[in-house]
Amino acid sequence: MVERTLAIIKPDAVSRNLTGEIIKRYEQQGFAIRAMKKVRLTKSQAEGFYDVHRARPFFGRLTDFMAGGPMVVLVLEGEDAVKRHRDLMGATHPKEAAPGTIRREFGTDIEHNVVHGSDSRESAQFEIGYFFSTLELQF
Ligand code: RTP
Ligand code: MG
Repeated sequence: MVERTLAIIKPDAVSRNLTGEIIKRYEQQGFAIRAMKKVRLTKSQAEGFYDVHRARPFFGRLTDFMAGGPMVVLVLEGEDAVKRHRDLMGATHPKEAAPGTIRREFGTDIEHNVVHGSDSRESAQFEIGYFFSTLELQF
C-alpha cells in the first residue's frame, strides 16, 4: 500500500554536511519526496514533537539536541514507506544497526543517530501534520 512517512535529517547530520548524502539515499530507494524544508525547533516545539517520550530519562537531552540546530524535514511517499524507511535508517543505536543503513554508516551514538522516521501510520499522520500544512503537501 502506498503511504507517507516523516523523515528528519537531525541537527547532527545537518551540521556535518550529510544532508545531500542522506537525501540521495531516499531517492535511490525510490521514495518520492512530497515535501521538504529546513527548520529549527524551539525547545517546546521539540518537546511537543517527542511528547510520547516525555516520561523517559533521556527526554531533556533528546529535546535539547533536536532544538540545538537546524534540521531538514521531509515527507517521503512510497509502497510500505513507514517500514521501508525504518529499514533504511537502521536500529536506534548505530552500533546495533545493520550494515549499509544510514545510522550504521553515519550515527555517532544512541543520542546522535542522524535521522528520525515515523514508526507507524498513526505517528506518521501526527508528525507530518506537526511540520507541514495542506498547502505544503501538494507535490
Ligand atoms: P526516532 O524516533 O528519532 O526515529 O528514533 P527511534 O524511533 O529509533 O527511537 P525512539 O525510541 O523513538 O527514541 C527517540 C530518540 O531518543 C533517543 N534515545 N536515547 N539514551 C537513550 O537510552 C535513548 N533512547 C532513545 C534517540 O536519539 C532516539 O532516536
Ligand atoms: Mg521513534
